[in-house]
Amino acid sequence: MAGSKGKVVLAYSGGLDTSVAVVWLSERGYDVITMTADVGQEVIDLQAAKSKALHSGAVKAYIFDLKKTFVDNFVWPSLKANGMYQGTYPLTSALSRPLIAKTLVDIANKDGAVAVAHGCTGKGQDQVRIEVCATALNPKIEVLAPVRDWHFTREAEMEYALKHGIPVKATASSPYSTDENLWGRSIECGMLEDPWNEPPEDAYELTVNPLTAPNDPEYVEITFDKGIPAALNGTAMNGPALIAELNKIAGRHGVGRVDMVEDRLVGFKSREVYECPAPITLINAHRALETLTLDKKVLATKKELEVKFAELAYEGYWYSPLRHSIEAFINETQQYVNGIVKLRLFKGQAVVRGMKAGKSIYRHDLATYSEGDAFDHSAAVGFIKIWGLPIKTWTSTYPSQEKAEIPIEA
Ligand code: ARG
Repeated sequence: MAGSKGKVVLAYSGGLDTSVAVVWLSERGYDVITMTADVGQEVIDLQAAKSKALHSGAVKAYIFDLKKTFVDNFVWPSLKANGMYQGTYPLTSALSRPLIAKTLVDIANKDGAVAVAHGCTGKGQDQVRIEVCATALNPKIEVLAPVRDWHFTREAEMEYALKHGIPVKATASSPYSTDENLWGRSIECGMLEDPWNEPPEDAYELTVNPLTAPNDPEYVEITFDKGIPAALNGTAMNGPALIAELNKIAGRHGVGRVDMVEDRLVGFKSREVYECPAPITLINAHRALETLTLDKKVLATKKELEVKFAELAYEGYWYSPLRHSIEAFINETQQYVNGIVKLRLFKGQAVVRGMKAGKSIYRHDLATYSEGDAFDHSAAVGFIKIWGLPIKTWTSTYPSQEKAEIPIEA
């Protein structure tokens, strides 16, 4: 009685788990529609994924190039927020999940599906993100998580796959669990689970080892328009092209390797390795340009909201009222973030070496100690009197307890 339960839209990677999920859901009475999203992962063959989905029994297989949407609606908002979870992780995987959830729900609404489904396990946070985002977008939608719920061992899954004619690759599978998109690559599991182990070189694909990176530095210039990168080395580029190109350039200098112990939403600490050449370069550049163009108090408040923004994105609260409100604040600030930042890429680091902005609140005539000084030196006298008044009043009431720093004879 295939199809008696209605349609389900499954996020489909083309791998073993989600292929088995197609069969498993079909056997349980669903008409399975698959959705494969290209968010810039290098490893995917979209046409092969499509035919594999149909071969596994999907009634329809969508493939979408979502690179531009991903960058415009998820990556750039995060860059404007200098988005880094726990100050370190540029949110690579976390940013693609709300887009995947949205696409699943959009298809479900269009094709009249009763449910959406994903292939996440029960231990990660991708399940949380996809499910929380999907139900935020359509509170009535049911979310199925076959891989989490079917209780297959690896062997049983292989056997089931073979029985249903799903090709199981004989190649040695990676010792790591990885996830990739334009905003970087996440690497976890295997020997990385021991935080004492130095990540081996075979864990990395987008970056060279900083120790063997070129001995000559390379400079890049990023032009920002309202907080968004608009040109690389003076050449205007669309978002996906700019990020892909910068991933290559910064990657060959070993920029963007992140190695951290991360506090997962699901309650435990996890050792995570990332490689994010373009994100690290762009966040460094963007943060620097903000120091040149934004007001002191706006910067300070923005910094607090950035922490919150990253947490919300990490924790699956992308479509939450708070993230939307913070985004409104951030967008208000970004209209002033226009200019060019020059960075030096060298042996694993992307260091800002210069910047300029057409309109900036960095005022040379106020800052200079040379000719052309416009700062009112005489105003300092009254300013210091009043600035120091509260402390002076305090010590004239409660005499200072500070001991002398030099020996004083009694
Ligand atoms: N710890 C990262 C995050 O939660 C990476 C997740 C990677 N996902 C994966 N299926 N390997 O954002």
